[in-house]
Amino acid sequence: MTTTSTVTAEWRRTHTCGELRSQNVGDSVRINGWVDSRRDHGGIYFLDVRDRYGVTQIVIDENLVGEIKVGPEFVIAIHGEVAARGEENINANLDTGEIEVVAHKIEILSAAKVPPFEVIDNLDTAIETRLRYRYVDLRRTPLQRNLAHRARFISAIRRGFEAEDFLDIETPVLNRATPEGARDYLVPSRVHPGKFYALPQSPQIFKQILMCSGFDRYYQVARCFRDEDLRADRQPEFTQLDMEMSFVEEEDVWAVWERVLQSTFREAMDVELSLPFPRMRWAEAMERFGIDKPDTRFGMELKAADDWALQSEFGVFKGCVESGGRVMGIVVEGGKTKVSRGQMKALEKRAKEFGAKGLAWWKPGEEGGAAGPMARWTEGDQGARLLEAMGAGQEDLLLFCADRRDTTWKVLGELRLHLGRQLELIPEGQWNLLWVTHFPMFEWDEESKRWSSSHHPFTAPEDWSLAGDPGELASRAYDLVMNGWELGSGSVRIHRGDVQQKVFDLLGIDEEEQRLKFGFFLDALSYGAPPHAGFAVGLDRLTALTCGLDNIRDVIPFPKTASASDLMCEAPSTVQENQMEETHIQLRPGVQTDPREGEAAGS
Ligand code: AMO
Ligand code: AMP
Repeated sequence: MTTTSTVTAEWRRTHTCGELRSQNVGDSVRINGWVDSRRDHGGIYFLDVRDRYGVTQIVIDENLVGEIKVGPEFVIAIHGEVAARGEENINANLDTGEIEVVAHKIEILSAAKVPPFEVIDNLDTAIETRLRYRYVDLRRTPLQRNLAHRARFISAIRRGFEAEDFLDIETPVLNRATPEGARDYLVPSRVHPGKFYALPQSPQIFKQILMCSGFDRYYQVARCFRDEDLRADRQPEFTQLDMEMSFVEEEDVWAVWERVLQSTFREAMDVELSLPFPRMRWAEAMERFGIDKPDTRFGMELKAADDWALQSEFGVFKGCVESGGRVMGIVVEGGKTKVSRGQMKALEKRAKEFGAKGLAWWKPGEEGGAAGPMARWTEGDQGARLLEAMGAGQEDLLLFCADRRDTTWKVLGELRLHLGRQLELIPEGQWNLLWVTHFPMFEWDEESKRWSSSHHPFTAPEDWSLAGDPGELASRAYDLVMNGWELGSGSVRIHRGDVQQKVFDLLGIDEEEQRLKFGFFLDALSYGAPPHAGFAVGLDRLTALTCGLDNIRDVIPFPKTASASDLMCEAPSTVQENQMEETHIQLRPGVQTDPREGEAAGS
């Protein structure tokens, strides 16, 4: 370790806890770190000392044992000499496992209260406790590894964009509220009574304006804020690798991302991705996988049984297709023996949770009830035709859903994923990247009785004239999917003010509202906007997935809970009365707050 300080405290480390090897044997060293564990081996006392680089075993000299009183998580300095471990004591699982440090002197740099939980890899402590004491939790090796992975990954992805001539440009965090799908986080203005800033849901409008200003390759590691329901892959604040390009179309954006991700995976993980990534239209993804983010690591794809249903005597199925719905199924290979009756009941329950009216199943070749509720309709030729339509064999289990098209897709798509996990059909260590393209332009919202954008209102339509039924229009939006997760989204944008206005019209945003919310943006488009397109990847998702995690919380140092709280600093909190006054805020009658909470957080 080098030092620029003229005062060198005697305790300062010469080596980290992960550094010493057998070639250091005999060296005088100083080690600093946290007490990881203590062991008393019949008079000989061992300490494991930990820092972010590793763990070193310390042997306490007999004459020191009496003097030193250290507990777990004390921060200490050890002065000692490196010694080789005897053959039988070498720990091959530890980088420093060939040596130990025989201590001559131990200093306590800081004592520690008994920690709320042990700093061990496999911890089953409640997540609330871990988040409340996140500074202790973050000392654990898996979290240290996750954050290091995240840093390495983001550093490599930045280098990738720099190599492609992208400029890193920052966009503001205090913005005008311009709804983009989710709810905004609002910040009251002190200087402008009654007015609010909104935190960005994404830098979307700014990056498009940067294109209008001629910065034809922009990127940013951007923090985004969305007040929406949280799940394993959603946090209220999260990070995007956001980018935008001018004078390009879809293929140009995809090619840049493919090259950047290839170099990122290579540098950060030593994994070689093959290019180009496969592409699939949205309609094909829905038809084959029942979902717009298909996990292509395993088969068990959806199969249409509409034609079979039309010719069958099964009233529910036949009626469904006749009234415009879909009958589809999945084939569980070898499922006849693999899936028990009890499991069938559980599957049926699940299907209903996903919105199904029922789940019809069939075990070909079985007799009566054992064959399932479709036994009556699959006798003789009927059964043979169904097997053929489904590409199934005598040993398989067939599951069917009949419903409105969207419900059939959803139910079978979810069941496929559930069965894939349950039957362990999903291979590990595989990175299946896929572009999903040609999303629908609009979705009908039954509640508000109007169209909404499937992606966002700045997405270009396939047909610039926007003629025909809005429900049938395809957009130029695309997603990047990996192993069944949506990693990122983007689109070719509307660069013409007249088309943008038409889209707003279709969305039922009248001219007054357009001026009010997006006037500056429409103006920017009217002063010379290049054709442009862009994309944003959720870095929390990308780094979590590549770490083998199924919750983005574990790659975020200070994440929020499902109710958007930070348990460590107790945010959100009430604020002091004078802060409320300064920002001209008065709570609505009936809103209950705990005044003590505000004092604690405000002080
Ligand atoms: P979109 O809203 O699809 O697109 O977001 C892009 C990506 O950001 C990630 N993401 C999230 N990650 C964690 N927590 C969240 N709450 C969360 N919400 C989104 C996802 C998602 O794919 N401006 C457009 C992009 C564009 O068109 O260029 C946008 O933000 O990985
Ligand atoms: P029923 O005619 O309602 O007794 O249903 C016969 C079988 O078909 C039962 O196993 C139901 O779960 C199943 N079933 C009913 N409706 C549907 C549906 N819409 N899609 C799939 N299976 C269904």
